[in-house]
Amino acid sequence: MAIQIAPSILSADFANLERDIVAVAEADWLHVDVMDGHFVPNLTLGLPVVERIAQVSPLPIDAHLMIEDPDRWAPRYAEVGATSVTFHLEAARDPRTIAADLRSLGARASCAIKPGTPVEDVLPLIDTLDMVLIMTVEPGFGGQSFMEDMMPKFRTLRAAVAAAGSDLWIQADGGVARETIATVVESGGDVLVAGSAVYGADDRGGEIRALRELGQEACHHC
Ligand code: DX5
Ligand code: ZN
Repeated sequence: MAIQIAPSILSADFANLERDIVAVAEADWLHVDVMDGHFVPNLTLGLPVVERIAQVSPLPIDAHLMIEDPDRWAPRYAEVGATSVTFHLEAARDPRTIAADLRSLGARASCAIKPGTPVEDVLPLIDTLDMVLIMTVEPGFGGQSFMEDMMPKFRTLRAAVAAAGSDLWIQADGGVARETIATVVESGGDVLVAGSAVYGADDRGGEIRALRELGQEACHHC
């Protein structure tokens, strides 16, 4: 499988969201960070905004739910048009049922772990999931520094995926940029979220191409 790039609109101009969504059209996914002010201290946007974004976006929506009670809310994001829905393991009561609900709605089911959560906690779930998101910053804010000490989690998960013959995708989110993308891809990541790296560049398309190229060169598992 090829490296995929998912620009995060957390770093976009929220007053010009459609313009900034179209500006990253050559990426693979549009990463939408939903924060509720409880699971994480920050507050962003919710269902009605994701619904409209899905209607105008040329890219499929990769919704990253940093919210409490994903058992109740995650399927609603699939219903309003998200193609991939990521819930946090730390917030989930019954992750297997959430994943099954998402798949039954036709969405890709994905589970995220915070830096303090061991990757071993998610390994028993990989048969129920289409993607695992390993956070490479503390969730809540864009523009933080990449946590290289998360790389052993990627290696462990990549080995487990290979051993299981699974086609699970492994997403990295936080601090991914030209300087860090090779490290995370070599460690096993294949879907890369990039917020400030893409939106901080004058040429967003050029930045997406540069990240994809650097990631592809570093990929042994592609
Ligand atoms: C952080 C969000 C990220 C954020 C990444 O909680 O989940 O998606 O936008 O931003 P950068 O790429 O700037 O670290
Ligand atoms: Zn995110």
